[in-house]
Amino acid sequence: MRLDKLLSHSGFGSRKEVKQLLKKKLVTLNGHQVKDGKINVSETTDQISVDGQPVSYQAYFYYLLHKPKGVISATEDTSHRTVVDLLSKEDYRPDIFPVGRLDKDTTGLLLLTNDGDFSHNLLSPKKHVSKCYAATINGIVTAADCQNFAEGATISGGDICQPALLEVLSVNQEKQTSDIKVTITEGKYHQVKRMFESVGKQVTELHRETMGRLTLDPSLAPGQYRELTEAELMLLGLERAN
Ligand code: URA
Repeated sequence: MRLDKLLSHSGFGSRKEVKQLLKKKLVTLNGHQVKDGKINVSETTDQISVDGQPVSYQAYFYYLLHKPKGVISATEDTSHRTVVDLLSKEDYRPDIFPVGRLDKDTTGLLLLTNDGDFSHNLLSPKKHVSKCYAATINGIVTAADCQNFAEGATISGGDICQPALLEVLSVNQEKQTSDIKVTITEGKYHQVKRMFESVGKQVTELHRETMGRLTLDPSLAPGQYRELTEAELMLLGLERAN
């Protein structure tokens, strides 16, 4: 990788700002001063310092976000805030993207990363990574609905879903609403909402609690995020490469 790119990706500012650091003779490569940002360096074996401080290069970033309502799961949008806009200036990088999507009005666990393989592995239908959602439903959810989901609901467009576990937590007869948990292993477009539509009911609140063995950190308020820990990455079947 080019030295200026590595420095820029390591938090030393834009390429222009990095150029200034090089010009001011603040950068050393294996103990020797360098002024040319175009040279290729190795992220693993070369020793790079800025103003005497060793640079530690991190290639991949993994964030656990509590997605709030009203932001969209995209990297950019002309009229709405995106989940990437929730990152601080220090954590923002142009290559970070959300792992899959939650609808604008859905809250809960969303991962952000710049690791394409990691995202692909979590989203691949072949991997059957489970996702558990808590929801409020307009209507009384019945044992027949649970059976229907367990057998594989047929949703709008004729798609047949993989078997899903539907659990009724409580019902409010007066309001005619139900609080439920549903665990699915796919990520079809608006899947949970369409599954309930297929049994004549409407999702009014939807919140993702888990993805695989990872649970949303309860100390994160909506809109807050933090880096995934090594232990959490291992829960998702990934050991950090950097
Ligand atoms: N299913 C939905 O309908 N919406 C989401 O945001 C996630 C799953």
